[in-house]
Amino acid sequence: MKIFLDTADVAEIREYAASGLVDGVTTNPSLAAKTGRDYVESLKEICSIVPGAVSGEVLATDYDGMMKEAAVLTKIAKNIAVKVPLTWDGLKACAALAKDGTMVNVTLCFSPVQAWMAAKAGASFISPFIGRVDDAGEDGMGLIRDIRAIYDNYGFKTEILAASIRSISHVRECLLAGADVGTMPSDIFKKLISHPLTDKGLAAFVADAKKANVVIKG
Ligand code: G3P
Repeated sequence: MKIFLDTADVAEIREYAASGLVDGVTTNPSLAAKTGRDYVESLKEICSIVPGAVSGEVLATDYDGMMKEAAVLTKIAKNIAVKVPLTWDGLKACAALAKDGTMVNVTLCFSPVQAWMAAKAGASFISPFIGRVDDAGEDGMGLIRDIRAIYDNYGFKTEILAASIRSISHVRECLLAGADVGTMPSDIFKKLISHPLTDKGLAAFVADAKKANVVIKG
């Protein structure tokens, strides 16, 4: 499963991308608003930091407006993915952009049938929002499993980009369900390798080596 960071904060992306383990980035208007920076300028910088897809979301809700904004976004870099909402206008824009070879991420997916429609429209990525489905009292991970089954049944190549990830359990279940990408906030990314027994074990190794003067000589 690829790891994407779900943030528009360039400094944060730079910091975590230095690990070499960040494949791409997803942004949305709410995340862009938090930065207080010019959205296109931020996207330009982000595209130069990570090797994989960087989703920049259209702000327009009508087809013509989306296509105009997509023309600006696609000029930013080769790894930009235009993010459109799961509406009729969004899917129409998705189909037109995909036909021209543009990567499209269809966002705000809350049902398996919506995901099927996005795949039919040629989306490169579908973004089901796990956490928000859970918030609504439904089964977010069930949504990922259903989409996986549908895409596999019909051979759709659209990548399942699990979004609205709120916990390490979400990440583990996404891995087991066969999501292609997990996009997560930096605080979840940081926790991916945390385990108290790792910390405890390392402290013991360091202490034992120091006590017995174990060294590695060159
Ligand atoms: O990628 C979608 C994400 O930004 C939404 O997350 O936690 O606001 O539901 P959340």
